[in-house]
Amino acid sequence: VSSELPGYDIAALRRQIPALGSMIPMCNCSQAPQTDATRAAAARYLESWRVRGMDWDVWMQEVALAKAAFASLINASPDDIAVFSSVSDAASAVASAIDFTGHRRDVLATEAEFPTIGHVWLAQEQRGAHVRWIAVKDGGIDPTEYERRVNDDTAIVSACHGYYLNGALQDISAIADVAHQNGSLVFVDAYQSAGAVPIDVKASGVDFLASGTLKYLMGIPGIAFLYVRPDRVDRLHPTVTGWFGRENPFAFEVNKLDWAPNARRFDAGTPPIMNAYIARAGMEMIAEIGVAKIRAWHELLSKRLINGAALRHLCVSAPLRRGSLKTANTAFEVKDSHAVEEAMRRKGVLASARGPVIRLAPHFYNIIDDVDTALDVLAEVTRA
Ligand SMILES: Cc1ncc(COP(=O)(O)O)c(C=O)c1O
Repeated sequence: VSSELPGYDIAALRRQIPALGSMIPMCNCSQAPQTDATRAAAARYLESWRVRGMDWDVWMQEVALAKAAFASLINASPDDIAVFSSVSDAASAVASAIDFTGHRRDVLATEAEFPTIGHVWLAQEQRGAHVRWIAVKDGGIDPTEYERRVNDDTAIVSACHGYYLNGALQDISAIADVAHQNGSLVFVDAYQSAGAVPIDVKASGVDFLASGTLKYLMGIPGIAFLYVRPDRVDRLHPTVTGWFGRENPFAFEVNKLDWAPNARRFDAGTPPIMNAYIARAGMEMIAEIGVAKIRAWHELLSKRLINGAALRHLCVSAPLRRGSLKTANTAFEVKDSHAVEEAMRRKGVLASARGPVIRLAPHFYNIIDDVDTALDVLAEVTRA
């Protein structure tokens, strides 16, 4: 048993996650466990619905509070945030606001994007876009590729912050610099980093940044947020839209299309209200602990995973050479990842299978013993 501890009261936090009594969740790259707070938030919505019957003002306020909670995690203002049901929806709305009929038609996307992002850009080829790909090499994206590939034809660069397969991190500030020097926009998918890696949209200068909440933000599916850089908003008119994108959604003017003056113009239909309650509870927990402190603990757990893998002759997926430039996710090459996930679950460890790898993605609440047990179980089931 190691004596190393994180910079927060991990024992108190663990008491707020009932699942820890019966399993070791190490699958935050896929789904975070329930906390007392997220459960209470869901109950709060159900109670409001039961007791008040209909409470739109309060419900809309909850959505605004969830946007504000996301904004504060990435150093944005609540006005810079739009709400969606998924990152796919958010990316589609961004794509719909870009003109692919002029001379800038290229979308420069990486093969490390989550497939849904690639699909969104490929669908834009119907609107004139040309999708160019930066290949994954040695388990990651070579950062010099951006300088080589972004040019006057590039309308937008699409870069994930963390690679969903193995956690490799990209420097989004450097990517934004290269894009902007060439007059291109930048879209960042931060689903695998939000809540795990400090993000400052102002310092990095990115134009768009999207994330859902069910991974390191401790939430659930069915809600995602999009940051839109405020000085870009005026020229963006998403054709994926709806009444909540209007200056005043409650004006009910069917034959008038105006645009909210801020990122709210990317909102479309009635927002996912119950999910907003839960999302805020998850994000507030992360904010209270502090993403920098979480990151420090993740780095320690990652080292333990990587060193422990070597001791047990497990094959860690690249890119280890990039040192600490990874999220909390450590991936292991296995033969049948789905079967490994199932076998590990039977032994009380939740891991996450993706294609050729099994991912162990701890979070702030995991202790070093969790990591050691997960590695022991992985070694046992892969040897069986
Ligand atoms: C990096 C990344 N982007 C996007 C998604 C999926 O987004 P959604 O289902 O909200 O469209 C995931 C889900 O695993 C992901 O890891």
